[in-house]
Amino acid sequence: MRTAVYPGSFDPVTYGHLDVIKRSAAIFDKLIVAVSINAQKKPMFTLEERVEFIKEEVKGYNNVEVHLLDGLLVEYAKKGNASVIIKGLRAVSDFEYEFQMAQMNKKICPDIETLFMMTGQEYSYLSSSIVKEVARFGGKIDSLVPERVAKAVIEKVNLK
Ligand code: PNS
Repeated sequence: MRTAVYPGSFDPVTYGHLDVIKRSAAIFDKLIVAVSINAQKKPMFTLEERVEFIKEEVKGYNNVEVHLLDGLLVEYAKKGNASVIIKGLRAVSDFEYEFQMAQMNKKICPDIETLFMMTGQEYSYLSSSIVKEVARFGGKIDSLVPERVAKAVIEKVNLK
């Protein structure tokens, strides 16, 4: 059985992430979406909230699990018997950062491969950060994230 892990901070999940989940779930027997801390980012949502948002959206898939990842990604992948890490790649600007992480993960655990999936063309501009930025300035985000997520983002920005 081929298992892949799709890690990220997903703060919050966007239609771009969901597109990668859908396409990866069609390739692998099992896909584990691992919601993780990115030490370089200050999140808007708790890990638990982010997990719940994604769980709600993947209810229709029987081979997708969503979990919280607290620790090293490659150790987590090994424990879950996953041999592949999936990362979404939008533009050249993503490459340097992703390349560094993929090389480090390979150094720590040579048996696990990182595969890059190009995000759908219609999502190449989309990121969680840009969604939060648009919402902060009162822009519409309902075509960028699921309805529940959009409501939660707007609530958060209005609290500030
Ligand atoms: O969506 P992001 O913020 O680009 O995802 C980055 C993430 C969460 C995949 C990365 O920070 C990560 O792998 N965190 C887990 C801890 C870890 O293994 N760090 C070493 C990576 S080389």
